[in-house]
Amino acid sequence: MNKSYHITTFGCQMNEHDSEIISGMLSELGYEESKERKNAGIVIINTCSVRENADKRFFGTLGQLKRRKEEGDDFLMCVCGCMMQQQHIIDTIKQKYPWVDIIFGTHNIHEFPKLVENVVAEKKKITDVWEEGGEIIEGLPARRLHKHKAFVNIMYGCNNFCTYCIVPYTRGRERSRKPEEIVREIQALAEDGVKEVMLLGQNVNSYRGLRESDGSIADFTDLLYMINEIEGIERIRFMTSHPKDLSEKLIEAFVQCRKLCKSLHLPVQSGSSEVLRRMNRRYTKEDYLALVSKLRQAVPEIALTTDIIVGFPGESEEDFAETLDLCQKVQYDSAFTFLYSIRRGTPAEKYEDQIPEEIKHCRFNRLVEVVNASSAQKNAAYVGRVVRVLVDGESKRERGYGGEKPGSGMTALAGRTDTFKLVNFIGAKELIGSFVEVEITAANTFSLTGKIVGKENFSVADKK
Ligand code: SAH
Ligand code: SF4
Ligand code: F3S
Repeated sequence: MNKSYHITTFGCQMNEHDSEIISGMLSELGYEESKERKNAGIVIINTCSVRENADKRFFGTLGQLKRRKEEGDDFLMCVCGCMMQQQHIIDTIKQKYPWVDIIFGTHNIHEFPKLVENVVAEKKKITDVWEEGGEIIEGLPARRLHKHKAFVNIMYGCNNFCTYCIVPYTRGRERSRKPEEIVREIQALAEDGVKEVMLLGQNVNSYRGLRESDGSIADFTDLLYMINEIEGIERIRFMTSHPKDLSEKLIEAFVQCRKLCKSLHLPVQSGSSEVLRRMNRRYTKEDYLALVSKLRQAVPEIALTTDIIVGFPGESEEDFAETLDLCQKVQYDSAFTFLYSIRRGTPAEKYEDQIPEEIKHCRFNRLVEVVNASSAQKNAAYVGRVVRVLVDGESKRERGYGGEKPGSGMTALAGRTDTFKLVNFIGAKELIGSFVEVEITAANTFSLTGKIVGKENFSVADKK
């Protein structure tokens, strides 16, 4: 077995960050990341279980790897993440994919190096999945995807039990990190060149961290004010907020904290108060609309995004019309739309009136039309404006710069505005990781195009 590894990650930013930690731990042990899965000595799949599609993709990937094992290739097959927190999944793996070497869960990723050692030394297979998270483990290394931005967990788990959702079962109960631990981590990140942090939690609004100093409780906004003071950090983002406990204090923080980005992901899930009740979301359509108008009054330029589930059991045509109406009223900057997917063990699994697939798809398409129209309109309003963009990397889009081709030494770049708009433009590669001023020249539904009109923090090129 060679000393390289490859990780495939499905799911949300939590999972991406867990993969960064697994990667960090393996690097400390002297393993190197392999760009291709087929040459790696350790193959890891970090799974998601939020919808059936995610499950299917995992089993598909596992099926592809079967041949390699059968051909006698010497590699360690490891699977982890949210799917592994469900017994029926582990049973299926053991039955159909008995060649998997290590199965571990979301609560014990810190033990992964030990598991690898044991499996290698004793040539056996291990399943080690914990039902609940124990003490929060601090100080794990993370190998970041980007030099200039980082994910930071502020809390783990979820207590909300929305009736459709598997996450409370796969990630356990809410546990918040101490604010000082979070601040220390972000200070170290800033010293390492990080300019933007994304604070992670399933419901950051219910963050309650025990202060080391006096044992009192810091809430989410207290934490934001603390992070806002950290030198070197320029942007603070967070995910996700539950509308039911978004406080006045947080709205005020958008006004007071210079570094807090003016964008908010506020999943609504449905526009029907009756569907929301059966989803156990604990707010009504009216509550949500009132919250949006309060936010916009305090922070007029704030960009709002959301998640919406179509075809929840019992969703009538009238319920769905309420969702369309809510989207018309809110005018989201963008929305992630999902077909309801039955999750085993959740309350909604047992609900009667599951919606037929054709109706779900038809509603889905109608909804996408409405949300795309507002995305396009919101983006169009940026044309002619000059925005501050943090350059993330090379653009995934190679065409469509208004006919402009990158000149010599130039490349197609992409970055985000404060409001999380994706901007494509042409510039020197050295700009990656720094802020530039971009004049927006064109807009479409999902991104903006522009040209650089100014630079700041011009890191590498400055020194030339
Ligand atoms: N904690 C976050 C969301 C985590 S899951 C929050 O509460 O906002 C991300 C999104 O997946 C959810 O917002 C929801 O829209 C969607 N989702 C979750 N379970 C689903 C299911 N069973 N079927 C379809 N979509 C689902
Ligand atoms: Fe799932 Fe609801 Fe928790 Fe979000 S808040 S993770 S949707 S149970
Ligand atoms: Fe998926 Fe688990 Fe995230 S189920 S969405 S990876 S918390």
